Amino acid sequence: MLDVIYKRRSIRKYQNKPVEEEKLNEVLKAAMYAPSGMNKQPWHFIVCKERKTLDEVQKIHPYSSMLSSAPCCIIVAGDTKMEHAKGSYIQDCAAAVENLLLAACALELGTCWLGIYPDKTRQEQFKKLFNMPSDIEPLCVVALGYPDEKKDMPQRFDQSKVHFEKW
Ligand SMILES: Cc1cc2nc3c(=O)[nH]c(=O)nc-3n(C[C@H](O)[C@H](O)[C@H](O)COP(=O)(O)O)c2cc1C
Repeated sequence: MLDVIYKRRSIRKYQNKPVEEEKLNEVLKAAMYAPSGMNKQPWHFIVCKERKTLDEVQKIHPYSSMLSSAPCCIIVAGDTKMEHAKGSYIQDCAAAVENLLLAACALELGTCWLGIYPDKTRQEQFKKLFNMPSDIEPLCVVALGYPDEKKDMPQRFDQSKVHFEKW
């Protein structure tokens, strides 16, 4: 378990190889096992494999060029009617995204988290491109596929970020 936490890296080069349906379902299932406020699970996932749409995404997201090689992306969005408190879909969906990334890593798949929120214009562009209803808010895109690059594990533990009892 801790293995995938340390091994996971953002992948920006993908092999020309589709993601098997079983693996896709597994990562979506893992996402849905995330904690959420009052267990409301206010998340939705749009799986996109069409090359035309993957190219459209690159036109509206300035840092998404890895989608030219990724065979798939998943838009993660929150249902503002379902969330426990106003804006809590962000924490709920972020927890689901991290589960998804770690599950993908455990299945030898690569991912890259691409932020949409909090850029309002970008959120509107994604809502339009994916025909999302007005009460659904996109949080991020996850690029998904078999990695075509290897990355070393960085050193990140920083004792100065840890506070005991009070700041
Ligand atoms: C909220 C958020 C937004 C991000 N947006 C992008 C993005 O637009 N494009 C991109 O290439 N990476 C994006 N990333 C990935 C980060 O750049 C990456 O996680 C960070 O550099 C650490 O590297 P690692 O994921 O390999 O540990 C995003 C990550 C998060 C959490």
